[in-house]
Amino acid sequence: MPAPPPKELISAAAIAARVTALGQEIDRMLRKLPPAPLTVVGVLRGAFIFMSDLVRAIPGEMTCEFLGVRSYGDATVSSGVVEITHDLMAPIAGRHVLLVEDIVDTGLTLRYLLDLLHARGPASVHTVALLRKKLPQSAALTVDFVGFEAPDAFVVGYGLDAAQLYRNLPYVGALET
Ligand code: IMP
Ligand code: MG
Repeated sequence: MPAPPPKELISAAAIAARVTALGQEIDRMLRKLPPAPLTVVGVLRGAFIFMSDLVRAIPGEMTCEFLGVRSYGDATVSSGVVEITHDLMAPIAGRHVLLVEDIVDTGLTLRYLLDLLHARGPASVHTVALLRKKLPQSAALTVDFVGFEAPDAFVVGYGLDAAQLYRNLPYVGALET
């Protein structure tokens, strides 16, 4: 018998409305920065769907880049040490960078990537995550823009996976246990 579909927690319509609003918030922030070209950096693979919608909600010139990452060690516990499986294809020195993540859990992955990007001399780095889990550990890390506080569950869909499945679900859901 096939597994039941994940239970819907955030609908496709709610995601679309929030992504449009995030694009406007980010655009307002960018307009206040000293002029510099913008590069939007998506973290593969989880952010690919969120990024594709988000960039269309941000008017103005930008380049799109991707960072492929793989966590070392236990797949369910973030070590914060990530292996870069795909690096940026162009330098970011002197550019405004918007780093796009699917979900911030412990924040260790984001911390690592922020250090990596800052070392390359960008004009600025801002972060946006579709979802953020409420963990005491991640409180220290500022995510500039957050779509939704994540429900207390392992979530899938709209790019997020469980063992590489469910990325194509149009909504965010939780696996039935
Ligand atoms: P962190 O380093 O603990 O913040 O881990 C962040 C990464 O773990 C995200 O980019 C996701 O790939 C993955 N992750 C954390 N929680 C979930 C979840 O509930 N569903 C799917 N992936 C998750
Ligand atoms: Mg993942």
